[in-house]
Amino acid sequence: MMTHWFILGNFPILSAAEVLAVLSLSEQTSKWQLETPILKVRENFEAKKIIKQIGGTIKIGQELKSKLTEKQMLETAIAELLEKTGKIHFGLSVYGNIDLNKIKNWAKEIKKEMTAVGRSVRFVFKNESVLSSVTVDKNNLIEKGAEFLIIKNTDNLYSIAKTLTVQPFEELGRRDFGRPGRNSRSGMLPPKLAMMLINLSNMSANKTLLDPFCGSGTIVTEALLMDYKKIIGSDISNQAIIDTHKNIAWLKPNNETKIFVADVNDLTKHIKPASVDTIVTEPYLGQPLRGNEVKQILEKQTDELKKIYLSAFEIFKKILKQNGTIIFIIPRFKFRNEWIKIDCQKEIEKIGFSTESLIKFKNEKYFSLLYWRDNQHLGREIWKFKKN
Ligand SMILES: C[S@@+](CC[C@H](N)C(=O)[O-])C[C@H]1O[C@@H](n2cnc3c(N)ncnc32)[C@H](O)[C@@H]1O
Repeated sequence: MMTHWFILGNFPILSAAEVLAVLSLSEQTSKWQLETPILKVRENFEAKKIIKQIGGTIKIGQELKSKLTEKQMLETAIAELLEKTGKIHFGLSVYGNIDLNKIKNWAKEIKKEMTAVGRSVRFVFKNESVLSSVTVDKNNLIEKGAEFLIIKNTDNLYSIAKTLTVQPFEELGRRDFGRPGRNSRSGMLPPKLAMMLINLSNMSANKTLLDPFCGSGTIVTEALLMDYKKIIGSDISNQAIIDTHKNIAWLKPNNETKIFVADVNDLTKHIKPASVDTIVTEPYLGQPLRGNEVKQILEKQTDELKKIYLSAFEIFKKILKQNGTIIFIIPRFKFRNEWIKIDCQKEIEKIGFSTESLIKFKNEKYFSLLYWRDNQHLGREIWKFKKN
């Protein structure tokens, strides 16, 4: 059985939860090990196919060997490069504390050994301990040589893997910045995050997926690209629905999505009872913030949002099938150094849902995972609920 390494993005636990959901390995803890930012998984699969299905992983590698001395680690890399023909390009990405000079010395050593046997080599180095997926791709490292992923363990032993594939960054960028229907005021999810949310729902593509606050349709379009066949998107705003239609036509025309204007509170007029398998949504997040709001304004906003969400869950209860799932974003707001949170888990459970853990890691169950960038006033908590 091969051990794969998933090099996780900026939100490693969230990204790990996504991978494990896609591979259906969440419960099989003996098959995986998370040492952020790397998730090691003992499972065979087609890495090039999986990387296109997930949003939170930057690279997937194949473990070559583990528990090696420095010398053995270098020998492993050299043996791997000797398999290649023509001029060889290679790079080294080291995870854990490392001095860049050490990386340069390893490269020198590898080059020396390769030249000694008459091979011509080029070392790709960007003054960083880890190469970006763009660098790996643009320098053809996978085809013309290798990018080695190296972990230095605390016992001074090394594990080494070679990169098999990297995230399709150009395609993701095109979907993020190229979509014609845009609304920066109400906010648009990055496609990567939309993919992670859909994957966390753990519903197969033949099930019915609904986004009742679809905005310009990121979740709807990503679900379409992931081959979901029964997709429903709705939003209270006419413009949002126009944008969603534009984005669908741009990405994947001629499909059978059902997209319409509706207040979430009226959804029972449009959707049959107990007919939806999963709801994946980023709901209304309140007025856009400037960051200098007084605390009372933020607290008032959280109270209002809480009411909107709870009334939406009453509707979700009616249209979801039994055991149907919801992936739902609950915002939290930054006030100076504290977070103002919306606490509605207990009320949601009272309506008839149970809170599902997204990942269990180091004996801790994560019932919500935070997606937040340092300079943002708003954080997104990702939650999973199941209808009882
Ligand atoms: C944060 S945006 C969703 C953005 C979306 N995830 C995207 O990537 O484009 C929230 C959306 O909720 C919609 N909305 C607000 N109140 C609503 C309601 N009561 N029923 C349905 N949609 C509502 C807004 O029009 C807005 O498009």
